[in-house]
This record gives sequence, C-alpha cells and structure tokens, in this order.
Amino acid sequence: MAKSRTGIWLIGAKGGVATTAILGLCALRKKLIESAGLVSSLPRFENAGLADWSDFVVGGHDIRAGSLFEHAERMHTDNKAVDPDVLARVKPDVERIDKNLRPGVLVNVGEAIEEFADKKLRRVRDTPRSAIERIRQDLAEFRKQHKLAHIVVVNVASTEPSADADELPPRWKKLDKLLDKPKKCRLPASSLYAIAAFEEECSYVNFTPSVGGSPPALRELALERGARQAGFDGKTGETLLKSTLAPMFAARHLEVMSWVGHNIFGNLDGKVLAQSPNKKAKAAAKDRLLRPILGYMPQTLVSLEYIESLGDWKTAWDHIHFRGFFGTPMTLQFTWQGCDSLLAAPLVLDLVRFSERAWRAGEIGTLTFLASFFKTPLDCEENDFGRQFQMLEAWCDGVGAKAYVGK
Ligand SMILES: NC(=O)c1ccc[n+]([C@@H]2O[C@H](COP(=O)([O-])OP(=O)(O)OC[C@H]3O[C@@H](n4cnc5c(N)ncnc54)[C@H](O)[C@@H]3O)[C@@H](O)[C@H]2O)c1
Repeated sequence: MAKSRTGIWLIGAKGGVATTAILGLCALRKKLIESAGLVSSLPRFENAGLADWSDFVVGGHDIRAGSLFEHAERMHTDNKAVDPDVLARVKPDVERIDKNLRPGVLVNVGEAIEEFADKKLRRVRDTPRSAIERIRQDLAEFRKQHKLAHIVVVNVASTEPSADADELPPRWKKLDKLLDKPKKCRLPASSLYAIAAFEEECSYVNFTPSVGGSPPALRELALERGARQAGFDGKTGETLLKSTLAPMFAARHLEVMSWVGHNIFGNLDGKVLAQSPNKKAKAAAKDRLLRPILGYMPQTLVSLEYIESLGDWKTAWDHIHFRGFFGTPMTLQFTWQGCDSLLAAPLVLDLVRFSERAWRAGEIGTLTFLASFFKTPLDCEENDFGRQFQMLEAWCDGVGAKAYVGK
C-alpha cells in the first residue's frame, strides 16, 4: 500500500476519457460502482501492493472553457452512459478537482484542436521553452499544495496531427537548444508536456497516438532524470480484438489475405480525427501490429468516420478474409459496439496505479510490462495481447514477492 498521496495530472482533463476517469475514481472511493473494467482490481493483482483509490489527488490541464462538471455531465446528458444519481453524488468531489485544473498549451497542436480552444488561451504566445516552464510550475505547485510524494502525468488530450519525430535531433542537449527557436522547433504540445513531466521527475503515460515522450532525445531526458514513461495509444476496442485474434490466425496457420476495419463514432475525439493529418496518426497505430504478429502484411484498410449522432458510442465493423486447407477462402466478421470513454477510463486508472507502483519499486525508463494497455507499446516488440498480459502478471508477481520498500 502507498504510504503517501500521489497526484494524477490529466492533460485533456475536460475530455471524455479524463472526465469519465475522474467520475469513476470519485465513485469508486464512495463505493458507488463496482470494479468491472479495472484490470488492476483483478484478484490476480491483489498481492502487487497497489495504492488505494483514496491515495490519489487529481489535477490537470485543458484548453477548453466550461466547468469540469459541465463536461463530465455529458456522459449522462449526451451519452446515457453514467447513472445520473451517481453523477449527483460525486458532484462536490468533481467541483473540488476543478480547482486543480490549469490552462494548457497550444504550441504546434494544429488547426483542428486550436479551433475549439478557449479564446483567451488562443491569444497567449508561448514559445516551446515558456510553455514547458508554465507546465513545470503548475506541476510543482500541485505537488506542494497537496503534499504529494509523486505525480503520474497522463496524456488524454486530443490526437495531434501526425509528426515526424525522426526529423528531431536525437540527443537531448541539441534538442534543448532548439526550444528557444519557435520557428525551428516543431515539437508538438504533447512532447512539451512530456519534457515538463520528466524535468519534474514525474511518471508519464501517453494514452494517445501523439508523439509525447517517444523521440529518442526525450527518452534520454527521461532516463537522465530517473523518470518513467509508458505509451502509446490506449488499446480499448478494435485493436484489442486485432491483437487477440491475429495470434489465433497465426497459431492455426490460417493465412489472412485482407483485414478491413470501419470505425464510426461521434464524440469530440472523432471530430478531431476526421481531419486527415490527425487521422493519419490514429490509423497507423491501428494497422501496425498485423505484420509483426502474422509475419507478413495482408491487404488492410482502416477507416475512421465522424458520425455525430453516435456520440461516444463507437461501432467498429471488421471483415477478415482468410484461407485455410486447400486454399479455400473463408471469412470472420465482427462488430464491436462500445462506449469509448467507459472502455478507456478504467485503463487510465489502472495505468496510474501500476506506474505509481513502478515508481515505488525504483523502475526508470520505459515501463514495457504495461504493453497490453497500448496499441503501439513503446520499446516492446511483443504485440500478442495474451503474451503482453503475461508480462504484466510476471512483473506484478515480481514486485509482490519483494519486501515492500516505501519511499
Ligand atoms: N477509447 C477511447 O476513448 C480511446 C482509446 C485510445 C486512445 N484514446 C485517445 O485518448 C485521447 C482522449 O480521448 P477523448 O475521447 O477523451 O477525447 P476528447 O476530445 O473528448 O478530449 C480531449 C480533451 O483534450 C483537450 N485538449 C486538446 N488539446 C490539448 C492541449 N494541448 N492541452 C490540454 N488539453 C488539450 C480538449 O480540450 C479535450 O477536453 C484522444 O487522443 C484519443 O484518441 C481514446
């Protein structure tokens, strides 16, 4: 059990995933909901020494106007996914958390995101350096005000346009110098948040396909500061099924000839992803895992379409054309219909719990044992969901077996 309090700092705190995680955390503390959907609450992880829900304090950044509760309420008013009685009972807790939110940064986020940012924030002219300083100050104040032993920063902000991290200098010393040259430094906001998190020795989790802390220079910084990171892009629906079903085709020696996936959804994430530069980052993350699992690349198509009336309820329809004995073609089709934020929010809470435990266990660098949570696990070649889950079990068995060392 953690001996002291830990901060959860949500980047994109007013979004669907973040507000559902906040509502969930408040409801779990008051025992208003069960633990279904939470991996860390499985009996399998009982002995891993994970922190209690009451050990966490929430804060975060966002760029939109409106109160946190107004945004959280949409999970009932727009999506009918959260019980209104539960909402009413956690309202005072959510209002307290709202006081810990700060305005975010908009450096290199692209037009689709800038468009819905608060007008006042759009007038702020941040350089990459000044943005990092502002984020660091917010984190430091949060730590001081709530007497936190540690902070886990989680990126659940809108997906940024895909950016080429290969064009950045590979060493931190060189990249650091670029931060004062806004015209030359193309680092997106997600990476500036990651730099600030590493500089403040926080753990950093990237639940989105945005670049975040993944460029080599930033990984070097994370190691230098003794920080941890995990990412990227949460695996909650269609890709979870891909990473479960593709190993089955491989193990049965069935040749997948094509895999087509159509996704339709109507939340703000869907609206942002409807813009082609933002969509590119997401589609790539959904498609990438087939080659390493199957050993070849079938013909694929991934579509992501914004259909407003669906709100947070996403439908994925996948058509898998494969052949077996005698080369005879056969087909598997599935439809997955789920509430996106309800699938993602418990994983955010799990990732915070496991990252906090890793910090107490003295882990630094990439937390590869968290691979089963991500579409593109950082620094991990394993894409088979079953094997990734075994990595989590093995790590938890390891920390559980060691004598508890508190910080
Ligand atoms: N099942 C899922 O919902 C799921 C699965 C995997 C990944 N993701 C990713 O998680 C992220 C969040 O999803 P969502 O449905 O909550 O999206 P959302 O659009 O509801 O919320 C995103 C929030 O981020 C804020 N934001 C945007 N840019 C910001 C910045 N620079 N700084 C601070 N805040 C910023 C927005 O104002 C918004 O409140 C997306 O990138 C999405 O692709 C979601």
